[in-house]
Amino acid sequence: MHRLLLLLPIAAALQAGTPIPGLMPLPTKVEPAAGALPIGAAVSATANLDDARLESAFDRLIARMTGQTGIAIQRVPPADPAHPTVRVECAGRGADYPALGEDESYRLDVAADGAHIAASTVDGALRGMETLLQLIAPGPNGFQIAAVHIEDRPRFPWRGLMMDVSRHWMPVEVVKRNLDAMAAVKLNVFHWHLADDQGFRVESKRFPRLAERGSDGHYYTQDQIRAVVAYARDRGIRVVPEFDIPGHTQSWFPGLPELAAGPGPFEIGRHFGVFDPVMDPSREETYAFIDEFIGEIAPLFPDPYFHIGGDEVNGKQWNQSPAVQAFAKEHGFKDTLAIQLYFSQRVHQILERHGKKMIGWDEILQPNLGEGTVVQTWRNQASLADSVRQGYRGILSWGYYLDHMKPASYLYTVDPLGGVAAQFSADEAARVLGGEACMWAELVDAETVDSRIWPRAAAVAERLWSSKDVTDADSMYTRMARISRVLEWTGIQHRSEYQPMLDRLAGECPAAPLRVLADASEATGLDQRHGSRYTTFTPLNRFVDALPAESELARALEQAAARLAANPGDAAAAQTLRVQFAVWAANDAALAPMLEGNALIEELKPLSGKLAMAGATGLRALDYLVAKRAAPKSWVAAQSAEMARMLKPNAEVVLAAARPVKLLLDALAKSGK
Ligand code: ACM
Repeated sequence: MHRLLLLLPIAAALQAGTPIPGLMPLPTKVEPAAGALPIGAAVSATANLDDARLESAFDRLIARMTGQTGIAIQRVPPADPAHPTVRVECAGRGADYPALGEDESYRLDVAADGAHIAASTVDGALRGMETLLQLIAPGPNGFQIAAVHIEDRPRFPWRGLMMDVSRHWMPVEVVKRNLDAMAAVKLNVFHWHLADDQGFRVESKRFPRLAERGSDGHYYTQDQIRAVVAYARDRGIRVVPEFDIPGHTQSWFPGLPELAAGPGPFEIGRHFGVFDPVMDPSREETYAFIDEFIGEIAPLFPDPYFHIGGDEVNGKQWNQSPAVQAFAKEHGFKDTLAIQLYFSQRVHQILERHGKKMIGWDEILQPNLGEGTVVQTWRNQASLADSVRQGYRGILSWGYYLDHMKPASYLYTVDPLGGVAAQFSADEAARVLGGEACMWAELVDAETVDSRIWPRAAAVAERLWSSKDVTDADSMYTRMARISRVLEWTGIQHRSEYQPMLDRLAGECPAAPLRVLADASEATGLDQRHGSRYTTFTPLNRFVDALPAESELARALEQAAARLAANPGDAAAAQTLRVQFAVWAANDAALAPMLEGNALIEELKPLSGKLAMAGATGLRALDYLVAKRAAPKSWVAAQSAEMARMLKPNAEVVLAAARPVKLLLDALAKSGK
């Protein structure tokens, strides 16, 4: 019965026409219809209202269709019935600047002669256009869009990506291409972490020394900020700036040492971690500065929310400062937390004066923070519950840290209304606004950041957009693999930077054997790589930096191994595994000589040897399984232990190749006599 239910939509799709390609995030309702819309050399695009954002979205739509099909598509006037039409109907424009909680729903109908998007707002129409683009696929007569009826709306109104541009500098074009990719998966908040210990990244005309002395020359001019905000607005994305205070402020102090509680001298942070420098909460001049600074910066950002950080204040310099201690005594503040609450309340008042609502990391959570405050949870899921129960609104980032390089399947299980939040009353649940994937930049730079965000952020996007019961990881991975390729045409470089980075390491040698090892490996994340060896100057040009968080190849082989374990007669699965295991077993002979005398890849020698071992073990395990012969128990146990060791980081890399082999060994152990 269950099986039949699962199969029905696909059967219905086949009956109605062509199967619907994998979409991500999965829409609320997808009904296949008969026929398909062919994509040819000309498309017309029209709307029922004259709107600049829709007009530019149409131009992007045509450009993306061109990229996704390789056909030089012309945008033509609608009069000619020979050309398919993309027709948009909006009940109204909606908010001029994308607003939290705005109606983003849309309906999309595709038929043989055109596509029709109906939405309440321009933002809803933009979401519909992204779905339309995801539907383009090759068919029996060329590129086409299968006929379909879709109804769709988001589950959460706040679906964000945070990007840290302080630890490593991210130029404007990096931000822009990530905004395009965000729009493609319907993320609608760009949280811009603009200042931290390692860099102050915004021009202040009022306090020019902040960027002059705090950024090594890498900062956004105010014109660039305005351009990025406009770019995001065009794509239906809000921009929430973060200026992390009172801690994580080391880069502010070379320019304005008088803001600091400690004595200095101060330099831009070059290492990573939690440091002592912190603003002085005891001086009125500090608040006067914040008032003036926010007064200058706030108008650059039309969004009502302004993020003040507030995380990881260790209190050391407050404890060491006689002035801060005297101030604390005078106010009856017992500890760092009490001082920080005072600071947060003062900043809240300042923000309110400038028409902004305060948002901060969960360390700010205390009673009486002030009206309208939003708390961003990162330390544990319980703090989201605490925030909501204290009457604040909250967003979840715990579990969505992309820099930890956990698999998409893990990110996918984290639900803003999961865990303790599952017990929320309706009122409490309504205060959970959504979540944000976080890209901290200690170990990513402009070259590698795309491959750390994408495609995994799409799994978070789906969690935040799609229905709560959309939880099947296999379906997610199948669709994510496809969407990862579709994203290519937004300009994001998560796939295109991979081979050139490997080629660069290979130098004079052909990079093919290095690619074999890379395809079988996975990069570890900040929690495993963090160490004193890294500073902001350390090049991120090693093998680990080229690798993605997850090996698509290993995953495909795991699926084949699972099929074979279930049915040793599955010849196709056995063949898939045998071909790949043989490549692995032979690879070290080709790779080892390349590694000699090349300081950049010498560290891979053990890893390359282990890949060969995994291949050889896999071949032997296959032979036993396919022949239905019992394998020696001691051999199975020893090899299983070896595979487990391979899954421990080596050169900061995990050998994902060990996983499918381990599955075969597990199957042998189970059937062993
Ligand atoms: C944080 O990760 N310190 C917010």
